[in-house]
Amino acid sequence: MLVNVKTMLEEAKEGKYAVGAFNTVNLETTRAIIEAAKELSSPVIVQLTEKTFDYAGGRAIFHLIKNIAEFYAKDIPIGIHLDHGKNFEIVERAMDIGFTSVMYDGSRKEYADNLAATKKIVKIAHGRGVVVQAELGNVPYLGEVQMENIDWEKYMTNPDQAVQFTEETGIDTLAVAIGNAHGFFRERGEPDYERLSSIAERVHIPLVMHGASDWHNGRVVEVIGRGISCFNVDTALRMAFIGGLRGALLSEEETDLRKILTQAKERTKVAVKEKILAFGSAGKA
Ligand code: G3H
Ligand code: 13P
Ligand code: ZN
Repeated sequence: MLVNVKTMLEEAKEGKYAVGAFNTVNLETTRAIIEAAKELSSPVIVQLTEKTFDYAGGRAIFHLIKNIAEFYAKDIPIGIHLDHGKNFEIVERAMDIGFTSVMYDGSRKEYADNLAATKKIVKIAHGRGVVVQAELGNVPYLGEVQMENIDWEKYMTNPDQAVQFTEETGIDTLAVAIGNAHGFFRERGEPDYERLSSIAERVHIPLVMHGASDWHNGRVVEVIGRGISCFNVDTALRMAFIGGLRGALLSEEETDLRKILTQAKERTKVAVKEKILAFGSAGKA
């Protein structure tokens, strides 16, 4: 069943576990996410980016997710969310399609510009009953930054700004930067746990962790204990899907696409389940 993402994440915050927000691009990934959640009785968020709108058709994939959620997972709380909406147009397009949860990502802008743009979008979104996640600080992408010698200070969320930003914009959830980065990095420094604690002590909305899908479970548990209520997971699923596909393609005789893609889906489902177990959301549906 489809539920309100804000309520889902507030319950996670209260219960001291995190919900996985898994990126989908197609039918197989969507089914892997929802089947894993159903088999583990876990709430889950299925999310997609603008690039996936362009790839699959925003309306087509939204209704695909919605139909699977409503007909095949009636007892499982499922949120559908726009991930990394980089401008007003894509956020508006998502709301027109029926998304009730969006991220406006103004993290590449100067602080004052991010604040002003986020505030404007929140006002419009709340007027339409849509909840908004924003990002403060900057969670970089592999490829966008050097892998070594990153000046993390430049990217991290400032706790004082986080308080002001949250109060002034009225956002529902906040993505934080504490040394996390999108993609699988060969080298990873230790996250700034103290910074996370100082944000969580003063910002009372659910906090979201992007760019941590290659973190080991020790780190995951540590940041949940310090106030993270949601993890975005994309790269780990793509790696699993591609691994499953490669394995399936080793059999040269197989020409049934459904059988090939099922192997990719099953491998993805295993990866989703591992994350759900690490996040502590199994059994919380
Ligand atoms: O943070 C975003 C995800 O990694 C997905 O990125 O769909 O824009 O390639 P993309
Ligand atoms: P990963 O690249 O660690 O999977 O992060 C995904 C993400 O933050 C999507 O918004
Ligand atoms: Zn992200």
